[in-house]
Amino acid sequence: MKLFLDTANVEQVKEIAAWGVLDGVTTNPSLVAKEGNDFEKTVMAMCKLVPCVSAQVTATQFDDMVMQGKEYASWHKHVVVKVPMTTEGLKAIHHFSQHNIKTNTTLVFSVPQAILAAKAGATMISPFIGRLDDIGEKGILLIADIMEVWKHNAFKTEVLVASTRHPEHIVDAAKLGAHICTIPYEVFKKLPMHPLTDAGLEKFLSDWKKITKN
Ligand code: G3P
Repeated sequence: MKLFLDTANVEQVKEIAAWGVLDGVTTNPSLVAKEGNDFEKTVMAMCKLVPCVSAQVTATQFDDMVMQGKEYASWHKHVVVKVPMTTEGLKAIHHFSQHNIKTNTTLVFSVPQAILAAKAGATMISPFIGRLDDIGEKGILLIADIMEVWKHNAFKTEVLVASTRHPEHIVDAAKLGAHICTIPYEVFKKLPMHPLTDAGLEKFLSDWKKITKN
């Protein structure tokens, strides 16, 4: 499973990429607004660090989505154009797939939406599991359903599990065979941690000190 960082903060990408585990980055308008930096410069800086960076169109009509997406794609070959799951978005996804521009369909909340995006030619789809949890549903069940459908169909579209909120989401997505997980910085930082690792290392180092003193 590929691991992406869900952020618009270049320093966070640098930090996690240095671990040697990062396959890409997803951004969205809310994350970009939170950082308040120039969007093109941010995307370009991230493209130098990872091979896959999702940049979301803010246009809502087909022609404008195509224009905006083509501009993003011209910035760097690592850019993936993120398109919302609407009928106008489906048309744009299809257009981009015909022109060899990679896409990530965002705001996927149902299996029919996932199927339509795949059929339109999306490179990846982003089902948002945390937001389903927020409204009292079990977001991970959507991933289970989508992966079941994918088993029986020859879709090339990768399933990118988005809106993850805690390490268990990542484990569950991996167990279901999802292709990619995008993870917020705070959650990513929790992944290497285990109290027994810390306690074990402390003990090893203190025991080592005892013999090196003599
Ligand atoms: O990038 C899209 C997605 O991961 C958003 O997550 O936490 O705002 O639902 P969240």
